[in-house]
Amino acid sequence: TRVEAPAVRRLADWSASELRGLAAEYGTPLYVQDLDRVRENYDQLAAAFPDADIHYAVKANAGRAVLDALREAGAGAECASAGEVYRALDAGYEPGEIHYTAVNPPARDLDYVLDEAADATFVVGARDTIDRLEERGFDGRLAVRVHPGVGAGHSDEVATGADAKFGIPHDRAADALRKADARGFDVVGIHAHVGSGMLSEGDVDAHREVVERLAAVAREAPVDLEFVDVGGGFGVPYRPEEEPLDLDAVADATRDALADVDAELVVEPGRFLVADAGVLLTEVNTVKRTDGPTLTGVDAGMTTLLRPALYDAHHEVRALTRDGHDRPDRTVTVVGPICESTDVLAERRQLPRPERGDLLAVGNAGAYGVEMASQYNSRPRPAVAAVEGGDHRLARERDSLADLTTPER
Ligand code: LLP
Repeated sequence: TRVEAPAVRRLADWSASELRGLAAEYGTPLYVQDLDRVRENYDQLAAAFPDADIHYAVKANAGRAVLDALREAGAGAECASAGEVYRALDAGYEPGEIHYTAVNPPARDLDYVLDEAADATFVVGARDTIDRLEERGFDGRLAVRVHPGVGAGHSDEVATGADAKFGIPHDRAADALRKADARGFDVVGIHAHVGSGMLSEGDVDAHREVVERLAAVAREAPVDLEFVDVGGGFGVPYRPEEEPLDLDAVADATRDALADVDAELVVEPGRFLVADAGVLLTEVNTVKRTDGPTLTGVDAGMTTLLRPALYDAHHEVRALTRDGHDRPDRTVTVVGPICESTDVLAERRQLPRPERGDLLAVGNAGAYGVEMASQYNSRPRPAVAAVEGGDHRLARERDSLADLTTPER
């Protein structure tokens, strides 16, 4: 089946008048999440992996609107914390549809998930975690996270496959499965995740290597595995010159590597499903001429969208001028309101000469955007508007100032 929707939604494809209208209605900074596009992305993935069970990596965007859309589309949930399990349950995911990927899980997390979602699949990456589950009397669905020793992604910071914090070394994973089986757990699967943001052919090769290592573990497994979970990490282009990920190539590589393994395939993408379905809208409040680029101060900063400051990540920026007229380009650096020099959203871009009151739209903000927002500098976290079927609604209120002090005693 071929999917009609474009492989990628670029920032230029968003309607300027729609974005202006949303900013006027809900204020800025504002995340806009297009749920129709989330569904299109799900359909693309389902078309490339027709036999796979798709579990949405909630960490990319845990907003209720997104969780609802993907649950209705047929996705399960991959949860990294008790908080994500809480949100998934709240959104109506059945425990049996939840994979809880427990990385050095706090006791409170284990206790919560065991109490509220004991039928979830516990994906564990350390023998200690298995011991701690056993101590709590758990003998349910267990999968072992394999540390493949191969990583990839948009930067080293997110190449989890090469970071030993995650998973049991691949040459010891079969042994861990044997021991878990002997101890009475319901051993159902294995898991690995190469990293986040695979885009290049080299990244796809790394993914293939990871899946080959999983296949090797599966062949040594003491029981028939119900599933092999090859993780997420499917990238999207952040720069105009980048090509979309060749999903079919990833699917082929995955299938080839698992050819002789008789288990269901699980994929757990986050970014791919939500990134290009979101934009961040921010308003220009300060324009400063310097000897270098024109500094453009906006009301969104690193507390709104952390990725540029944290990973040097590139996000496209598009100007929606106040008067709707185009202006000659300037070299512009977009900076936020936070008292940190790293509070830069975009550096040295060619943009129409900025004026106070202009809106800037920041692309690919749907993944790891609002989710990584913080209240540093006592900045209220932004609002989120959901767009769906030509309509829109407030999906998440902007924090109020009172929200900043509510937890204080
Ligand atoms: N599964 C596991 C076990 C993961 O650790 C992750 C992401 C995913 C799935 C989903 O990966 P995705 O399909 O979204 O690439 N904050 C970073 C990304 C960190 C991803 C961490 N793990 C960023 O903004 O680029």
